[in-house]
Amino acid sequence: MRAAASAPGKVILFGEHFVVHGAPALVASIDLRAAAIVERAESGGVRLSDGSKDNPAVKAVEHVLRRLGASASLIIEIESRIPQSVGLGSSAALAASSSAAALHLLAGRLDLNLILESSHEGEKIIHYMPSGIDTSIATFGGIGVYARSSGYKKLDIALEEILVVNTGMRRRTGDMVLRVRGFAEREPEQFKQLLDEAGRIIEEGLDALRSRDLERLGMLMSRNQELLRVVGVSSPELEEAIAMCLDAGAYGAKLTGAGGGGCVIAAADPDKMDEIISRISGRFEVFRVRLGVEGVRVERP
Ligand code: PMV
Repeated sequence: MRAAASAPGKVILFGEHFVVHGAPALVASIDLRAAAIVERAESGGVRLSDGSKDNPAVKAVEHVLRRLGASASLIIEIESRIPQSVGLGSSAALAASSSAAALHLLAGRLDLNLILESSHEGEKIIHYMPSGIDTSIATFGGIGVYARSSGYKKLDIALEEILVVNTGMRRRTGDMVLRVRGFAEREPEQFKQLLDEAGRIIEEGLDALRSRDLERLGMLMSRNQELLRVVGVSSPELEEAIAMCLDAGAYGAKLTGAGGGGCVIAAADPDKMDEIISRISGRFEVFRVRLGVEGVRVERP
């Protein structure tokens, strides 16, 4: 008795950090997925196949059981192509795929709202107050606007591919969020201007996405990066990765997620991507990712 499911990772195209202070963010699923196989066991409660219990996937599945009013011992086997702790939503994708597989095994259905809620419960053990971006994208997929007040609104937009460069430097989202809060408290007027500019970038970014204008998208990424530099969340490695993308011919690049390390995204002409990748890959891990892919789904175990 086993079931399997997978869920995508995510990138924040525009608006990270400013989203914490009320601005919207533009986010997209990527075609790097995490998968979970959930199998019934005789005893031992819910755990990963290595026996560990203290992680988002287990907590999310325990929440599914509570909501179903069921008790069962389950073993979760996970497999992920999403690099961890670099801002690509790996833990949310594992929580969403594990909850979906458990729900499919125990109730024979997928309830996206329950998967979202369970993944959010799972994420709470690693982020003090997750904004919900990662779990929304892992569950619903696509490209859309996320705001704290209104949640995730999926848009009918497709964008083929962007580049994701992984600096490999892990960092804690919470530390970066506190750094920005410190800036906002020290420089309230300047921060208000940055917040307004972040809002304008989202509007223009939506326009650029709708018209599939990669050059403008790249230019807006570089503008957004400028704001992230000012609030102090860039790093020498991120700047190096951005400079390499631009030198190799990308239209623009920025950090994605919390910053301080983690990943850079770059917009480029699809015909130039292979060349850019070959110039960067000796220094950093680079992915060519498709955006706006399907959210959580059942897979063959
Ligand atoms: O670390 P990530 O990629 O999940 O990104 C965090 C994004 C922030 O805006 C910095 C924080 C948040 O909760 O939205």
